[in-house]
Amino acid sequence: MYPLKRNRRLRNTQSIRSLVQENHLSLDDLIVPLFVVEGAKIKEEIPSMPDYYRMTLDFLVDEVTELWKLGLKSVLLFVKVPELLKDNKGTEALNPKGLMQLAIKTVKKACPEMLVMTDVALDPYSSFGHDGIVEEGEILNDATKEILAKMALSHAQAGADFVAPSDMMDGRVEQIRELLEAEGFHHTGILSYSAKYASSFYGPFRDALDSAPGFGDKKTYQMDFHNRKEAITETTLDIEEGADIVMVKPGIAYLDIIRDLAEQIETPIAAYQVSGEYAMLKAAAAKGWIDYDAVVYEQLIAFKRAGASLIATYTAKDVARILDKV
Ligand code: PBG
Repeated sequence: MYPLKRNRRLRNTQSIRSLVQENHLSLDDLIVPLFVVEGAKIKEEIPSMPDYYRMTLDFLVDEVTELWKLGLKSVLLFVKVPELLKDNKGTEALNPKGLMQLAIKTVKKACPEMLVMTDVALDPYSSFGHDGIVEEGEILNDATKEILAKMALSHAQAGADFVAPSDMMDGRVEQIRELLEAEGFHHTGILSYSAKYASSFYGPFRDALDSAPGFGDKKTYQMDFHNRKEAITETTLDIEEGADIVMVKPGIAYLDIIRDLAEQIETPIAAYQVSGEYAMLKAAAAKGWIDYDAVVYEQLIAFKRAGASLIATYTAKDVARILDKV
């Protein structure tokens, strides 16, 4: 009891604070999302994501080389598909010479040890901008998961280390795992977006890929953000179906979900600090209203404290610089 117990003793100097610090951030924890576009010599800034770019394969080589030198060792690939290649079934997603497949090969050639993760979902390929096949205004579950499994296989064949289904169809992890096993891809992992909420924080990402839903919203497949318990149902099911890593998305507004899961499961948990979160940080920083580096660091530590061991974040390159300072 006070004054025998003075909590400030453990805060008195940086040395004692370092000694008792519970959570740490390292570049080893980070996954870098990358946006790839068709063409050559294009590196265009995404308007709602300052300092973040869509790039063609030639610039992708430079980017991953730079990331590797900085100490960033995993990337998550997304592609922007030209309008005329889009259809209801996402046919282009299965093209062995499609942009995603080429991007995987490009990264692996430029930087063989870079861990390559790929987004598995129909929305960038869908003429409706939905994550599934549309029939009379409905998003079909079972027909979609068959295509997702083929898409995952195609990424594995191109050399992806992990496939990351971000669609929220029921049963898709099992379907993907079974097909990968049947085709001999025992080592290809699955990072499942298992608790992915129907969120308004994805706006800038949909600008980046031109993938906003053409009608309606994604509430019949992505989770309802009023709910907590179903995150556990979704995630435990994905683990049973074969997910190696599970993910909560968006990030900072969903720390309670990360904590719930951390208390219940042993599978590694990833957090996704999404595009809208990045946009907010950048906008406030541009106004001079927040100290960008300090707030980024504080938020990423919050993910670790909540129980995430991995973080997908658009700030990864900034973190390489920030960690040099702290
Ligand atoms: C597509 C997908 C989305 C994101 C990752 N994969 C958008 C969506 O579900 O509409 C969002 C990522 C971000 O906002 O940074 N299935």
